[in-house]
Amino acid sequence: MELLDKLNWRYAAKAMNGDTVPDEKLQNILEAARLAPTSSGLQPFEIIVIENKELKEQIKPVAWNQSVITDCSHLLVFAAWDTYTKERINYMFDLTNDIRGFKNEGWENYRQMLLSSYPQKDAEENFNHAAKQAYIAFSQALAAAAFEGVDATPIEGFDPDAVDKILGLREKGLRSAVLMPIGYRKENEDWLVNLVKVRKPMEDLVTVMK
Ligand SMILES: Cc1cc2nc3c(=O)[nH]c(=O)nc-3n(C[C@H](O)[C@H](O)[C@H](O)COP(=O)(O)O)c2cc1C
Repeated sequence: MELLDKLNWRYAAKAMNGDTVPDEKLQNILEAARLAPTSSGLQPFEIIVIENKELKEQIKPVAWNQSVITDCSHLLVFAAWDTYTKERINYMFDLTNDIRGFKNEGWENYRQMLLSSYPQKDAEENFNHAAKQAYIAFSQALAAAAFEGVDATPIEGFDPDAVDKILGLREKGLRSAVLMPIGYRKENEDWLVNLVKVRKPMEDLVTVMK
């Protein structure tokens, strides 16, 4: 299966060579993230695409000095909403009505249900829920990168508060959740590139209940 071949090809690149990912491939990776399913379709996150060398250099020390932060082509920052607000929920429901061209009673009742629950919840709880949605898009982008023959390193090894400050995310109601440098592997400097991929056996992962 072609998808599985690509997923076997991908790995968490530890060294990149600085080559630029063509815009068409970048756009396909971002589109895969945009198409990801999210809870209630709210897409409660944004993706910051960093090309700027100085910004990458500022982020590297607060991301465990991982070389891929500066040697990547683009650094994608998946930033989740800091909380759910009435405005944010209404925006997505209104957008749905605009695009589909009609209002639906069931959909409007669902909107009211979300409006009467999410905004009243603790912001931290809401952020954690939003961050989970960002990870779904993150995973789709990771697979799309592999499909495009582009390397991508999932990165949680960073100080989110520091990254938020560098990028001014809090002012925009966002908090960094996970990073994804994309680029091209530097095989001669990457200790992981030739190691066999390790995954637990299927029987330890999947339980079939008949
Ligand atoms: C959410 C997430 C965060 C990760 N953070 C880092 C990281 O900060 N640095 C790193 O080198 N690898 C990181 N990894 C890579 C994992 O260690 C790697 O995906 C895992 O060992 C499986 O290996 P593979 O991706 O090469 O198949 C992360 C992976 C995920 C999914």
